[in-house]
Amino acid sequence: MTAPSLASRLENIKPSATVAITDRARALREEGRDILSYSVGEPDFGTPKHIEEAILRAIAEGKTSHYTAARGIAEVRKAIAEDSARRRGGIVYEPNEIVVSVGAKHALFNLALALYDEGDEILVPAPYWVSYPEHAALAGAKAVIIETKQEEGFRVSPEALRAAVTPKTKALVICSPSNPTGAAYAPEHLRALAEVIREGNYWVICDEIYGQLVYGDFEQRSLVEIAPDLKDRIIIVDGVSKTYAMTGWRIGWMLGPAHVAAACDKIQGQATTNPTAAAQWGTIAALNGPREPLEEMRRAFEERRSVIIEEMNRIPGFVCRMPEGAFYAFASVEGLIGKRAHGKVLEDDLAICNYLLEEGGVALVPGTAFGAPGFIRMSYATSVENIREGLRRIAEAVAKLD
Ligand SMILES: Cc1ncc(COP(=O)(O)O)c(C=O)c1O
Repeated sequence: MTAPSLASRLENIKPSATVAITDRARALREEGRDILSYSVGEPDFGTPKHIEEAILRAIAEGKTSHYTAARGIAEVRKAIAEDSARRRGGIVYEPNEIVVSVGAKHALFNLALALYDEGDEILVPAPYWVSYPEHAALAGAKAVIIETKQEEGFRVSPEALRAAVTPKTKALVICSPSNPTGAAYAPEHLRALAEVIREGNYWVICDEIYGQLVYGDFEQRSLVEIAPDLKDRIIIVDGVSKTYAMTGWRIGWMLGPAHVAAACDKIQGQATTNPTAAAQWGTIAALNGPREPLEEMRRAFEERRSVIIEEMNRIPGFVCRMPEGAFYAFASVEGLIGKRAHGKVLEDDLAICNYLLEEGGVALVPGTAFGAPGFIRMSYATSVENIREGLRRIAEAVAKLD
C-alpha cells in the first residue's frame, strides 16, 4: 500500500538554498575537511548578559510557566510601542496595533495568510530575502519580482514600481536595509516611492529587521515617518533577532492597523498561541535596557564591512558595492562565469559557490537563491580574522581558474 499523498501546495515551495549549502558544508566538515562558513544570517555574538539575566529572573519569579495572550503580554507590547516611537520619529502605535510572534519570519508568515488571497500579486524587489516569495506561494498568491541592479544600489526606482503595479497588486514588500544586499533606502528615495504608492491601493510591508544595523552617515528612516498619510496601508515588521543577537529566542512583531493586528492575532491564536513567555521578558529587557552592548556590536559590524568590501573588490572577478546596513556583502561574480576549474566550465553562480566550497573550503550562498543569478552573498557576521582568511582562500581558489 502506498502512503497517502502530501499536500499539493508543497509543489509551489522551494527548499531553502541557504540550508542546502549549509548542509553540504556540514557534510564536508564531517569528512574532516576544514570548511569556513559565510552563509549564516545571524550575529556571531551571544545575547547580551543583561538580557539573559532578565530572562533568568523572570523564570525565577514564576512569570514564565503559562500561556500568555496570543499577541504577547501587555508589558512587551508597551515596550515595543515605546521603542518604535523613539526610533520612528514619534509615530505612535498602540498596543492593539502590535502582534508579537515567534520571530519576524513568523510575523511575515501571519501577514501572508492574513492579507494575501488566491491570485493576488505581491511585489517583491529582487534580490529578495528567500521567504517572501515562498510565503506568497503558501498563501496561494503570486510573487511578482521587480529586478534591481547593483549599479542602481539594488533599490527599486519609482518608475519600476509604477510599471509593476496592476489591479491585482495586493502588497509590496520592502526590506531596508536588505538581506541579501545590505542596501537601504534613503529618506528622499522613500519619499519618491511614497508618491507612487499613493497612486494605488495595496499594502506595503516594510521589513525593518536590520533597521538599527546601519553604518557610516546613512540616515535610516521608516517609510511610515516619511509618509505618515500612508500609515493605514503600511505594516512594519521588526524584531530582536539581529539587533540584539537574539535569533535563538525567536521574537519578532508586526506594527500596523488594528484590524490587521487582529487578523494576525486570530491566525497566530490557531497556530502557535503565544511566543515563548521567557523570550517575551527578554525582549522587554532588550528594548528598555542599555544601548552600549548594541552599539558595540554595530561598530564591530561596521569595521568588518570596511574590511570585507575593500578586500573582496581586490579579488579578480568580484565586484561589490558598499552596503548601507545589515551584515552581508553581495558581490557580482559575473567576471568568473565561463572560467574553467579543473577543465570544467563554471556556468553560473551555483557552480562558482560549489567550486569555492570544494576547492577553497569556503561556504557562500549563490545569488540565484535570492533571485539574483551571477551574484554571491558572503555574511560578515564573523570576526575580521575569519573574514580575511575566507577572502584569502577565495582569492587562492580564483587564481587557479583558467
Ligand atoms: C530580511 C529578513 N527578514 C526577516 C528575518 C527573520 O527574522 P527572525 O529570526 O526574527 O525570524 C530575517 C532573518 O534572516 C531576514 O533576513
